Amino acid sequence: MKNPEVQTRREFCLNACQAASLFAISGALSALLQGCSSDDPLSSNAQNLSKIQATAVNGTVTLNIDANSPLATVGSAAQVQYGGNTLLVARTAQDTFAAVTAVCTHQGCTITGYGNQVYTCPCHGSQFDTNGQVKRGPAGSALRKYQAQFANNQLTITVS
Ligand code: FES
Repeated sequence: MKNPEVQTRREFCLNACQAASLFAISGALSALLQGCSSDDPLSSNAQNLSKIQATAVNGTVTLNIDANSPLATVGSAAQVQYGGNTLLVARTAQDTFAAVTAVCTHQGCTITGYGNQVYTCPCHGSQFDTNGQVKRGPAGSALRKYQAQFANNQLTITVS
């Protein structure tokens, strides 16, 4: 004959064990996820880049960089759009900028993400440094780089 009290204790133990193992799994998972976000040097926490509209005159894009510009601070970056083209421009030092094409060398998507000096393509996650060098595939080649000069708060990028 069944003892209802024993049965209840068994059920309790079984439930407790299941709950404990679920708890352990979720704890391990959250530790793993935390490890991914904080320890991975290529985890860029990419944000969408600000956009700057510009025009190209005689193969040159000229931008005025004032205190309100998305490029006002060292370490910042922005998309610069001109005549149907898009550049990625990063301020790498007070007077130094790096300009590369925003067209990903993998399958041609426009790169929109940036964080921790790393650009991230939204299509398959390729990552590039501010000079366009590949940090992570699937892209296999660097972004084309353009000459950029800065003087008197004016940034001049040669795009021809
Ligand atoms: S097109 Fe950029 S990663 Fe595939």
